[in-house]
Amino acid sequence: MIVTIDGPAGAGKSSISRRLAEELGFEFLDTGAMYRAIALLGLRAEIDWADGDRLVEFAKSASIDLSGRAVILDGEDVSHEIRSQQVTQATRYAAGNVGVREELVRLQREFAEGKDIVTEGRDQGTLVFPHAECKVFLTASPEERARRRVRDLASRGETVALEDILQQQTKRDEEDSQREVGPLLKAEDAVEVMTDGMTEAEVLLKLVGIVQRYQHA
Ligand code: DC
Repeated sequence: MIVTIDGPAGAGKSSISRRLAEELGFEFLDTGAMYRAIALLGLRAEIDWADGDRLVEFAKSASIDLSGRAVILDGEDVSHEIRSQQVTQATRYAAGNVGVREELVRLQREFAEGKDIVTEGRDQGTLVFPHAECKVFLTASPEERARRRVRDLASRGETVALEDILQQQTKRDEEDSQREVGPLLKAEDAVEVMTDGMTEAEVLLKLVGIVQRYQHA
């Protein structure tokens, strides 16, 4: 069974989706981590971002292992580094690149082959797995999402102003939804869950209930 969780940045998708997968005994695929990993390779190689072909080469040659809790890029644990502000901002170059998307979508489908998975991103229910059995669109208001992101970065030792995060987030929301390839879209058959004012435990409980409805359908 494939469960897709799409939604905007900061809706709490990553940690909730991982916990949902654990709860269900499914594998978990964090597709944002893949785009982040490619951006990290670009940053490290100090590429000219206008040179999209370099990024496509990275996407084709990189080994990204998402099978455990850590994100392993070419044998190195980059779980922490790919969440930095610098990588977050550079990721749009990877996400907006048609060739990179083609390659990563191929890897995502390959990863899901024959498995029960929870997969999380922007285009999972629309483009990557249009026939997924259960689709969720997880969202929250912009202010709530920005507050969560500030808390998240603080727990990683990065101090940032809420205003700055809100501004970057608005820009990312626009880029995410206006992207020509793999834009953020709610699939017609997705169940929308608005998480404002809900604790993580409450959201998790709700999602387990939604998946069970589809499992028994
Ligand atoms: O979910 P996240 O913040 O880790 O995603 C990082 C970036 O990657 C974000 O700018 C959107 C992009 N992304 C994407 O374009 N397609 C996906 N399936 C997942 C993430």
